[in-house]
Amino acid sequence: MLIVFLCIIGVAAFEDNINPPSGLQAIDPTKVVTTPPFDKPGLRKLPDGSYEAYYVAQVFSFNPPVLKVPAGSKVTFYVTSPDVVHGFLVTHTDINMMAVPGWVNTQTHVFRSRGTYLLICHEYCGIGHQNMSATIEVQ
Ligand code: CUA
Repeated sequence: MLIVFLCIIGVAAFEDNINPPSGLQAIDPTKVVTTPPFDKPGLRKLPDGSYEAYYVAQVFSFNPPVLKVPAGSKVTFYVTSPDVVHGFLVTHTDINMMAVPGWVNTQTHVFRSRGTYLLICHEYCGIGHQNMSATIEVQ
């Protein structure tokens, strides 16, 4: 049975190119700090009124450490890491991603209620992992 399962996964991944919805956009992890738009992490407003938020997750912090967005905003997050694999979880939302070196992961969320949301790393990434957090202020 194990061999059958491995064959099914192998065929799906390599023949049918079925992969998790992450890793759709590649980035050189050694050049994250000089690659736009990750050279200036933060919030960008789009012409349609929605927002894009670019985040760099690194040992042991998120950049930007504080994000301020108006209530009701639709925000698409773009996350990458220049060093090791981190987690990207925003409490009281469905935002739950991995920040993987070499890849940009993305997820969209509409912040309907005001408040301060905690962004935490939920993947063990080293000695300071438990201190790796940031906040999103919905105003
Ligand atoms: Cu970054 Cu745990």
